[in-house]
Amino acid sequence: MSDKRTSIHGQWSSRFIFILAAIGSAVGLGNIWKFPYISGENGGGAFVLVYLVCIALIGVPIMIAEILLGRRGRQSPINTMRALVEDEGAHRAWSLLGWGGVITGFLILSYYSVIAGWALAYVFRTAAGSFTGASAETVSALFDGLLASPGSILMWHSLFMVMTMFVVARGVRGGLEKAVTVLMPALFLLLLVMVGYAMTLGAFSEGLAFLFSPNFDKVFYDCALDAAGGEACHFTGEPMLIALGHAFFTLSLGMGAIMVYGSYMPSGASIARATFAIVVADTVVALLAGMAIFPIVFANGLEPAAGPGLIFQTLPIAFGAMPAGQLFGTLFFILLVFAAWSSAISLIEPAVAWLVENHGMKRIPAAVFLGILAWLLGIGSVLSFNVLSGEEFQLFGKTVFDLLDYLTANILLPLGGLFIALFTGWVMSRAASVDELGMGEGIGYKTWWLLVRFVSPLLVLVVFFNAIGVI
Ligand code: PFF
Repeated sequence: MSDKRTSIHGQWSSRFIFILAAIGSAVGLGNIWKFPYISGENGGGAFVLVYLVCIALIGVPIMIAEILLGRRGRQSPINTMRALVEDEGAHRAWSLLGWGGVITGFLILSYYSVIAGWALAYVFRTAAGSFTGASAETVSALFDGLLASPGSILMWHSLFMVMTMFVVARGVRGGLEKAVTVLMPALFLLLLVMVGYAMTLGAFSEGLAFLFSPNFDKVFYDCALDAAGGEACHFTGEPMLIALGHAFFTLSLGMGAIMVYGSYMPSGASIARATFAIVVADTVVALLAGMAIFPIVFANGLEPAAGPGLIFQTLPIAFGAMPAGQLFGTLFFILLVFAAWSSAISLIEPAVAWLVENHGMKRIPAAVFLGILAWLLGIGSVLSFNVLSGEEFQLFGKTVFDLLDYLTANILLPLGGLFIALFTGWVMSRAASVDELGMGEGIGYKTWWLLVRFVSPLLVLVVFFNAIGVI
């Protein structure tokens, strides 16, 4: 019987630790690095609103579904899907879901580690006092200097990958459990300090207005000056796809990371309540990051649409100007690296668990092998910011880094999530989901069931078709 399965990899020591580990996976570069810069690129408020709607109507039900599948299967996502397909007598093609996830996680890790490497570099830069009293121009120039040096980005990328392999090799439980309990709350507190500092800047309300007051033209229309100097606008579904993709990315959904963490979750703990805690924590961290960054952007006359370098070009200005900024700044980047670390681990855990289960590999060689592969692929992203940044090396106007980011966050994760929703809502028996969720068949269950069966899949499809211009 499926509900008697146990995981050969062990279990989280409590429900609380599961929640912390899942928050560790969810809260990462996506919240602090990516959310502010894509909000900046997509015009702010309306984009943020679409993202929040995606979190509530798609992220929450699919997270419940993904944890549910993991805990019922109690294996790596590949084997969990195989086992559940057998339980339900479903078509074997559904097991591809597990495979898709393993590949997606691996692709994400390759560039995630490069950006985490930037954060590592900034720990040392801030500690060395490079930003003390620095102007916005100096801060920007320092960032450009880092990007222009493939050798140093490669070194930081390598260091971060080694750190990731190290923890994964030792097992996700153990060290991570303890670290996550202290460092996540510390990151949260430090973000509050940064928002407090942002409040002292003249541009706080401008920053908030940018983030929270929706201007829908920005989400639905792409405007450019035409030859005659007038504005020509055309409808675009792209920002909505980016918001949808980011809802999956930030919650670590659609690729088996949350599924594999769910497979280590103690039976009997409430999946719905855990989901609620994870989603709230993740969303609050992202919003706080935005509230800390945009006032700095406006106070210094910077461009909100500066792109992936946004936090590295804004926060150091604040650290350079605020009291004890060197200390706060160093601490901030250390915590950011930690947040990225606890997310990176969950990106290869599905693949490691599978190698251990199916190929009898030990965790250490499995982690090292996968880490080296992701590291090699990451070199493409390292070079995207310098040697390979020219148009002649781009495809559809995107560098290797842009392509990997676009493909994984905006296409593969939502597709994975779509199939998770369809499997849980349409293929899995109602009895199985009722049993695993353990909250009876009341209003809570019925709402989830409606969302996962109809609303989430339909919304994902609408956004997809909208982005490619079909509707
Ligand atoms: N959620 C992580 C972040 O916001 O940084 C990134 C991530 C981790 C995405 C794990 C997907 C995943 F499976």
